[in-house]
This record gives sequence, C-alpha cells and structure tokens, in this order.
Amino acid sequence: MSPDILTFFSRLIEKETGIIYGENNIYQLKSRLEDICKHFKLATVEELHREFNQVVPNSIMRQKLFDHATNNETLFFRDPSFFTALESFILREVLLEMPNEIRIWSAASSTGQEALSVAMALEEMCSRVPLPPFSIIATDICDKALVKARSGIYSDFEVMRGLSDERKSRFFQKETDGWKAKSSLHGKIQFGYNNLIRSTVKGPFHIILCRNVLIYQKI
Ligand SMILES: C[S@@+](CC[C@H](N)C(=O)[O-])C[C@H]1O[C@@H](n2cnc3c(N)ncnc32)[C@H](O)[C@@H]1O
Repeated sequence: MSPDILTFFSRLIEKETGIIYGENNIYQLKSRLEDICKHFKLATVEELHREFNQVVPNSIMRQKLFDHATNNETLFFRDPSFFTALESFILREVLLEMPNEIRIWSAASSTGQEALSVAMALEEMCSRVPLPPFSIIATDICDKALVKARSGIYSDFEVMRGLSDERKSRFFQKETDGWKAKSSLHGKIQFGYNNLIRSTVKGPFHIILCRNVLIYQKI
C-alpha cells in the first residue's frame, strides 16, 4: 500500500472526524482499509482510493471508512467515580435550578453502555431523592455502534463488564440473542447520529458527557 494512499485516507479521516492516525497507529489504518476493501469486494486499496476520488463521492463508503476509523471501546459504569460525581453534581447544582426535566447528552455514546449507565444511576437516585423526569440524548458518528445502541442488546461478556447482578436483573431481560435493556430504561434515551466536528445537537443540557473521545483526536 503506497504511503501516499495511506496519507490520503488519514488526512480525510482527520478532516471529517478529528480522529488522528499518526506514526503510532497508522498500521491499524492499513488493516482497517483492507477490511473495507473486503467488505466492498475490492481487490486492492488502490481501487478503494479511486472510488474516493470519483466526482460524486460514495456516501456509503465514506460512512464505512469513518465507522472503521473509530474506536468504540466502552463498558457499563466506566470509571465508577464519575457516577458518584454525577450524583453529587445533580444534587448540588442541577436540582437548585428546580428543572421540570433533567436533560443529559451523551455526546460520543458508542454502543450505548454510557447512556444506559447514566439512566440506571438516575433511576436508582429516584428511589432515594425526589427527582424530576430525565431524558438522555445519545449520539455518535459510528453507524454500526448506533445500530447496536438502538437494539439495546448486549452479550454475556458485555453485561459482565461493569454491570452488577442486581442491576442486570432489575434493568435487563434475558433474550435468545443476549441481555436486552428493558424499554422502561432504554425508552428514556434517544439515539442519533452526530459528528462532533460539526455538531447539530441542540441544547440546553444540564449535563454533557464527552468521555474517552479526545484521546483519539487532535487537541
Ligand atoms: C472510546 S469510545 C467512548 C465511548 C463512551 N463515551 C465511553 O467513555 O465509554 C469513543 C467514541 O467516540 C466516537 N467518536 C469519535 N469521533 C467522533 C466524532 N467526531 N463525532 C462523534 N463521535 C465520535 C466513536 O465513534 C466512539 O464510539
């Protein structure tokens, strides 16, 4: 694969998503481009490059490229101290405003575990303190991650990562293809596509979560 072609794709990804492929991880981009070629049944990355240089760019291929460029690593209740801080922020700051609704945005929600964890934390808070209703908007640039987030279904391995047995049985139900978030929880979250580089999400929000995103971006 020629260095010029790799540079072309890394620059395009950086311009459109902010995600950086540099010296340390350019090898990952190489293998991801090869995966995209396989997906579209293209023999070489040179052919893929030609597709990207058409007068009318192929939007499905572009989205596939950005999907592959992302790192979707996530888990339930990632960084537990964050959830303790979230609860005290709501008690100390948000409730002072006496809002009719607590509005939260998970701005790079990946496959949905972050937004679901916030929803579970707030549901649990409701049994201890009177809270107004809440709504969560969860967005990501990765279509594949959003499909999974919208399904609300997680494997045994995924629920093992961060979910206690108590939360699993309270908020999820076992189905043939995995553990499905109950609609009473999942229904509190609206999932959608959004690119943080040119965001179209409209506030205001009481809380915006943008966690573990900038580590992959140029700042
Ligand atoms: C490592 S995951 C973090 C998920 C979650 N916030 C967490 O902390 O567990 C990073 C997410 O950021 C998303 N992302 C990267 N660049 C983005 C952009 N420009 N706009 C929106 N989402 C982006 C990726 O698709 C990925 O799902």
